[in-house]
Amino acid sequence: MQKAIALLKAHDLLRVIDEPLDIDLEIPHVAYVEVKKRDSKALLFTRPVSKRLGKEFKTPVLMNVFGSHEATNLFIGKPADTIAEEIETLLKLKPPATLGEKFGMLAKLFHLKNVFPKRLSGKGACQQHIVTGDAVDLYDLPILKTWPQDGGPFITMGQVYTQSLDGERKNLGMYRLQVYDKNHLGMHWQIHKDSANFFHEYHKAGKKMPVSIAIGGDPLYTWAATAPLPHGVFELLMYGFIKGESARLVKSLTNDLYVPEDADFVIEGFVDPMKLRIEGPFGDHTGYYTLEEEYPELKVTAITHKDDPVYLATVVGKPPLEDKYMGWATERIFLPLLKTTAPDLIDYVMPENGVFHNLIIAKMQTLYPGHAKQFMHAFWGVGQMSFVKHAIFVGADAPDLEAYEDLSDYILDRVQMDNLLISEGVCDALDHASDAFAYGGKLGVDCTANNVHFPQKELIDDTALLRLIRELEPSVEAIKQYKTYTKTPICVIAVKKQEPIKNLYERLEPIRKHTKLLVFVDAEKNDLENPYMLIWRVVNNMDATRDIFLQKEYIGIDATNKGEIDGFPRRWPDDTDCDTAVIEDLRKRGIIDLDDDFLKRFYITRSG
Ligand SMILES: Cc1cc2nc3c(=O)[nH]c(=O)nc-3n(C[C@H](O)[C@H](O)[C@H](O)COP(=O)(O)O)c2cc1C
Repeated sequence: MQKAIALLKAHDLLRVIDEPLDIDLEIPHVAYVEVKKRDSKALLFTRPVSKRLGKEFKTPVLMNVFGSHEATNLFIGKPADTIAEEIETLLKLKPPATLGEKFGMLAKLFHLKNVFPKRLSGKGACQQHIVTGDAVDLYDLPILKTWPQDGGPFITMGQVYTQSLDGERKNLGMYRLQVYDKNHLGMHWQIHKDSANFFHEYHKAGKKMPVSIAIGGDPLYTWAATAPLPHGVFELLMYGFIKGESARLVKSLTNDLYVPEDADFVIEGFVDPMKLRIEGPFGDHTGYYTLEEEYPELKVTAITHKDDPVYLATVVGKPPLEDKYMGWATERIFLPLLKTTAPDLIDYVMPENGVFHNLIIAKMQTLYPGHAKQFMHAFWGVGQMSFVKHAIFVGADAPDLEAYEDLSDYILDRVQMDNLLISEGVCDALDHASDAFAYGGKLGVDCTANNVHFPQKELIDDTALLRLIRELEPSVEAIKQYKTYTKTPICVIAVKKQEPIKNLYERLEPIRKHTKLLVFVDAEKNDLENPYMLIWRVVNNMDATRDIFLQKEYIGIDATNKGEIDGFPRRWPDDTDCDTAVIEDLRKRGIIDLDDDFLKRFYITRSG
């Protein structure tokens, strides 16, 4: 981490904050607002304190290391597209025809020898200081409590190292870890993830599961921990491939797992597979809290660290945040691998306000009827891509995937009922909108067809349309129309919900001659003038099997929060809102500098 700090400084990508700041809310809130800025920097907090524990920490806290495209490229070592090209070249390796090609191939294969991690003997720098047994105290680390309703402090950038019961397969994953007490951590590996898979093997065998958690070291380990590699593929291979150098590992002191020798901290221990414990709530990267669920618990047997360690952390919540940049690198690097299952895929994006699994837009070459629908099934069947709730497919002639205005015009000119696919399946364990945990609706929209003919709508302005709507439905508080010049004009309707939204959609049927797509949101929670946060809300809150109403040329989407009125069987979580008093105090002290407009734009202290 000290090297990472020097690199960030050299590129003017670091701000150092020497003011004492609390690990509960203050430090996370500062990092949260910083990374939303266009010119955001990594932050080094040199004087973390805890009022709760009555402590001042010697270890500084580093946040937002991946807080911009520039910093992400810096730590990944080269542009993400270059890595994608290297992967593509490897995937397309053909037998060499000439001597020159033979040498070229040899060079590529020689480079691959560095992919495999190297095991070193003896202790590593990460073991310069060792605490074991009863002396272990997680409260000696400046572990942050990021959100007001969080169940406690959480390690947010832990590299979690595990292995299969027979020791043959290794895994590195990034999962948040809740601090329960001085030597117990909650292991939030979600049901579909690789360590959860290993956990089942230990559970079946009734054997304790070793786990080691590294924090810090080369930032590329941290990114690799988030990479969605297939089950059984060790993420440190990806590290070696990208870096062109093997990861150098040392053995943990109290279990058999190997960890990077240059990590800043290592927490070692064992999970008792027979014991689960309530984990959460935690303000998550969807911008909502994830509610309490049972997860395994780790008993910590040792904490080791380097001389001068730095504690690395991140904050997740409403977009845009650091995971936007980490996810962007993943999106680019994994394009060639995705193409192996979907060969006519040209490109794809996961817009940041779709928080990854909620929205994907993919550009493809269509060659036969149903090609886009074939891709929908393929995507929903591949690894972590299967969590995607809403997938829109556009043709090769579509605008650039990041030219969002032009792209949305293209899409809206092609949305037709016959080309929607509503399905159901696996969804992200964090999804709060589906009726069941980790299982819910999927929407695929095929916008690859050109020459789509729609009847022209009789457009009227917002004031006239609102008057008409209120005559039919007095409970509507406000409306705003978007993209009325396209073939799918959108009308966003803010309501104070008193009955299921489907009733309103049916009562508003007479307005179908003026608009095509009705999107219902809660008046209290949303700002109709803020399309960025509206999209975040809509794709978060809908479950396609329940919340889409379809009649020819008249489509309704219920993006309101669900509850008793809707017969929703689960608890609906709150948004992750910063503590207003903490934000105001940080502003007064000059630690954060932002105007009211910025607060509103990103729903920082409250929504809408
Ligand atoms: C900031 C951040 C926090 C994350 N937290 C979790 C988590 O708590 N639990 C989880 O299962 N995945 C979490 N993830 C996603 C995993 O890191 C990701 O799915 C990874 O590929 C899992 O590795 P695995 O497939 O080896 O299990 C997080 C990702 C990021 C970027």
